[in-house]
Amino acid sequence: MKPKSVRVFEVGARDGLQNEPAMVSTELKLQLIRDLLAAGVQDLECGAFVRPDRVPQMADTETLLQTLGREKLPKAAKFWALVPNLKGLERALATSVKNIAIFTASTDGFNERNIGLKVSEHLKVLAEVVTQAKRHKLKVRGYVSTAFGCPFEGTVAPKKPIRVAEALWKMGVDEISIGDTIGVGTPNQIAPILKPLRRSIPLKKIAFHFHDTRGTALANALQALELGIQTLDSSAGGLGGCPFAPGATGNLATEDLVFMLHGMGIKTGIDLDRLCAASLRLAEKMNRPLSSRYLVAYKNQTIRAPRAS
Ligand code: HMG
Ligand code: MG
Repeated sequence: MKPKSVRVFEVGARDGLQNEPAMVSTELKLQLIRDLLAAGVQDLECGAFVRPDRVPQMADTETLLQTLGREKLPKAAKFWALVPNLKGLERALATSVKNIAIFTASTDGFNERNIGLKVSEHLKVLAEVVTQAKRHKLKVRGYVSTAFGCPFEGTVAPKKPIRVAEALWKMGVDEISIGDTIGVGTPNQIAPILKPLRRSIPLKKIAFHFHDTRGTALANALQALELGIQTLDSSAGGLGGCPFAPGATGNLATEDLVFMLHGMGIKTGIDLDRLCAASLRLAEKMNRPLSSRYLVAYKNQTIRAPRAS
């Protein structure tokens, strides 16, 4: 049941950089985004309209989006930004961004630390955000975090992310992304969430967002593909982590995902060499190596490894 092509939803400039200890300049983020666009990436999450004192790396979201809005960029490019509440939406509407991502969790323990609200309270806020966003014709993605495990509540039963995803879908979001925020999921945990969920949400509107904290992200992505998933979230170089989820580390690396997909004959529209060039340029400017396994091998290669293009 594997798809012929996969939409790679790149979160490097947001999830990837939100937890970086050293401040990343707007110019460097813009360079990463331009390089990723040149590699053929089309969906890019670039910022977050959250409190700048809580997530300082995202404080330049307005400037970044306004700069991108003035540039001549590929028509297919879609920029996304996180919106947690009505104040965030107001900030988004003051820019040219057309796509927003609301986010909540499967568990109160994480949501209270991330947002300051229980999930049920947050869903009421988000219903109003979606209503207003739709009035302004924005596309809305809905994240459901801690779907496999919570740093404060432990194992999470599938019914929790399912219930939250269905609530977001009923509000009118355009797509749902199921998040393994702290990278504890394993492949056999995907079907118990996905099979019931696809009865209420079309399969092509469901994405998975894996963090690779314990090395299972690519295996989980493969399992999601086998179950018919056509959108996968990933981050250039494997950057990433949530400041409010202790122990959360990088997302599934885009290079590792694209290498696997192309090797399986699944199209992404992404040029893997250019993608590596984008991440290597970022790594050099940040003065630290990035964790993507493919990227490390690419950088160190002395012979040309065989691969599908
Ligand atoms: P709050 O303090 O509870 O909000 O923040 P409040 O309504 O009580 O207002 C307090 C003050 O904050 C007020 O200012 C508001 O105007 C201001 P004052 O009147 O005191 O001067 N305020 C804001 N300012 C800027 N932007 C806003 C905003 N809202 C209120 N949007 C809030 C609530 C959610 C904003 C805060 O808790 C916050 O910023 N949290 C950070 C959340 C975050 O960015 N987490 C990381 C991303 S989620 C993630 O990584 C998971 C994901 O990748 C999926 C996965 O892996 O599972 C998506
Ligand atoms: Mg994440």
